[in-house]
Amino acid sequence: MKRIVVLSLAALLVIGAMPALAGGAADGAAVFKAKCAMCHGADGKKVNKAIGVRDLTSAEVQKQSDADLIKTTADGKGKMPAYKSKLSGDEITAVVAHIRALAKK
Ligand code: HEC
Repeated sequence: MKRIVVLSLAALLVIGAMPALAGGAADGAAVFKAKCAMCHGADGKKVNKAIGVRDLTSAEVQKQSDADLIKTTADGKGKMPAYKSKLSGDEITAVVAHIRALAKK
């Protein structure tokens, strides 16, 4: 019984610390890993000419405004699925910020 209490407390602490580690409510890195990495690669650099995937860290993508990247993520484009019904506005903003961060690596 005591062990269960200790384990649940530990789990709560870990869950509580996650947003703090990410520096915001929505964790762009986690969203990217879960929803985008299968097509764009964990580092965002995967290219797939067959369906039109470009390196997200390349100049052609990075020169677009945040508003453009948010729109593509929300509404989709070509073979890129739309995420406005699957992610919150905060999550979309956070995942675009993550794409900017990947380009700086
Ligand atoms: C099923 C594969 C697939 C998934 C999953 C996917 N994408 Fe894409 N993405 C694409 C394709 C294909 C394009 C190119 C669309 C075009 O220009 O025709 C694209 C383009 C983009 C672009 C515009 C880049 C450019 O070439 O101008 C952004 C930004 C983007 N994706 C972000 C995301 C984000 C963020 C996620 C996760 C929430 C995601 N994508 C998930 C396939 C995918």
